[in-house]
Amino acid sequence: MTESAAGGSSEVIAGAGPAPRPGERPTLRLRESMPEEPPRYAPEWLELREGADAAARSLDLLDPLRIRLADLPRGAGRSGGIVVHDLGCGTGSMGRWLAPRLDGAQHWVLHDRDPYLLHFAAVASPRAAADGSRVSVETRRGDVARLTPDALAGASLVTASALLDVLTRAEVETLAGACVGAGCPALLTLSVAGRVELTPSDPLDAEITDAFNAHQRRTGMLGPDAVTVACEAFADRGATVEVHPSAWHLGPDEAALTAQWLRGWVGAAVEQRPELREPADRYVRERLAACEAGELHVVVHHSDLLALVRPTDGTPS
Ligand SMILES: C[S@@+](CC[C@H](N)C(=O)[O-])C[C@H]1O[C@@H](n2cnc3c(N)ncnc32)[C@H](O)[C@@H]1O
Repeated sequence: MTESAAGGSSEVIAGAGPAPRPGERPTLRLRESMPEEPPRYAPEWLELREGADAAARSLDLLDPLRIRLADLPRGAGRSGGIVVHDLGCGTGSMGRWLAPRLDGAQHWVLHDRDPYLLHFAAVASPRAAADGSRVSVETRRGDVARLTPDALAGASLVTASALLDVLTRAEVETLAGACVGAGCPALLTLSVAGRVELTPSDPLDAEITDAFNAHQRRTGMLGPDAVTVACEAFADRGATVEVHPSAWHLGPDEAALTAQWLRGWVGAAVEQRPELREPADRYVRERLAACEAGELHVVVHHSDLLALVRPTDGTPS
């Protein structure tokens, strides 16, 4: 997940979508959150990034996943198909991408703590598998950071997309424990890697990147450490882990996404290091002008992770 800020009053909330410019009314914020509330993600932001996410997702992890799903022991999944739990589903982009790439009937259980996003996910759910088999969905509202193996009983696969980097180490360990306890493989995609390449380059690029990464980590969220921590959490529990790059490659065709991402990225960096405000204003102005002129290219690095867990007989351990 790469986005940074929704920006309410002055606060920038990592992971909640792009930040407004100073004096600008936020366009993507759903509503003003209470300070103790978790960040809300605007469906417009998730929609804006869905195409770039789809293009970025690693295809290399699909074959090992298909092989594992074909080898599922009896008892895993439900008769007549597999059961996939998508954690932090947002509006459901992971299912729209993956369901039509897997054969056979599928039942997707879409988890999120935000009922508004779950509504979008249910309405725009995938209907057919690669071979035309039926795909059904149900939604579950709740905190995926407290997942237990029991909640995954009968699951064939856990997925998540743009989620790991907004979790803490303890939450990622809980998630890994739940998957391993339920004998369920996990495909955890599009976690930020903390690296960004902008062309043409600017002397401020590195400072903004460092400040953004520090902003992501500041409340205990893993940010760019998410994949390393998740790999350790799964490997320590006996899983085999494979990681592949899944970068966004943003050019003139993705100008709207690039501009929103840029505002959020720089907004979070400035919130982390207020002394950057003045140079960052110049930076954003020039970057947005280049973006509008079709002269800016951005690579935002992410990683996809597949954890192959020893299957159980369907009974959580
Ligand atoms: C960046 S969005 C990604 C949404 C979607 N997976 C996608 O790729 O478009 C992160 C999602 O995770 C959800 N989320 C974050 N932390 C969560 C938690 N602890 N429990 C449940 N949902 C959570 C948010 O509500 C949001 O929908």
